[in-house]
Amino acid sequence: MRDLTPETITQVFRGYFDDASDPRAREVLGALAQHLHAFVLETRLTHDEWRKGLELLGWAGRITTPERNEFVLFSDVLGVSSLVDMIHSTPAGTSSSVLGPFHVTGAPALANGGDLKGQFAGEVVLVRGQVRDASGRPVPRAAVNIWQTAPNGLYSSQDPDQDTYSFHGLLTADDDGHYAFTTVRPVPYQVPTDGPAGELLRASGRHAWRPSHLHFIVTADGFRTLVTEVFPDDDPYLDEDTVFGVRRDLVMRYVPQPAGSFPGGLALSGQVDGGYSSVDFDLILTAE
Ligand code: BEZ
Ligand code: FE
Repeated sequence: MRDLTPETITQVFRGYFDDASDPRAREVLGALAQHLHAFVLETRLTHDEWRKGLELLGWAGRITTPERNEFVLFSDVLGVSSLVDMIHSTPAGTSSSVLGPFHVTGAPALANGGDLKGQFAGEVVLVRGQVRDASGRPVPRAAVNIWQTAPNGLYSSQDPDQDTYSFHGLLTADDDGHYAFTTVRPVPYQVPTDGPAGELLRASGRHAWRPSHLHFIVTADGFRTLVTEVFPDDDPYLDEDTVFGVRRDLVMRYVPQPAGSFPGGLALSGQVDGGYSSVDFDLILTAE
């Protein structure tokens, strides 16, 4: 051990795990050390640079709260969240996408066909679709958890003027897998840049914008939980999402609908006289 060199330290570290009872821990931690050591060697990292990196992690720890997790944001802007998503996505199902740090658990029940927009200004969007399995059969009574920002681009957890669960809802699709709700057209927004993740974005010359989107978590017995998003096809940030969340099958057309055509059977039926947009987003679940 006293003859350690830059060439041998990695192997010595990996040797620590030789007797680890968990082979997966051995593999993951060993590879992590290997890549970290290789990064130090490749960049000839200086003390000051390493200290700066550790300071950024310390800063992330200090500002992380249940409502704002800076480590999640780091993972998102570094593309790690999306890489983990992509390698575990099954092509037969709807692509998964980032959860993000702003989801509030425990959303209140929203009737199927219910409304999230309430009194907020903005264009009404009717979102509807069917939850199906990979062979096309309807999945009955899936739980569909939806959330988004208000028209000011802020999630409820970021905005003292919103209720805890504004723009959050949990609906149950019908026996045939169909779901529907109305909301306001989402807007592009910037991820928070007042912490270390913002510093990272600035250092790499990147902007902080995400294309507008609606978030979904879909669960049903016997199926893998699907965490995903749907994006409108005319959003200017589709090809430069700062957290790499866009997938081709998650981009949908928001179809403009004429005044007087709003359908019946929804919470807002009879209340939408002008035009609105509709988006059809089917959710394909894969077996557990
Ligand atoms: C979001 O879509 O809510 C989000 C995702 C990643 C980072 C920040 C926000
Ligand atoms: Fe979001």
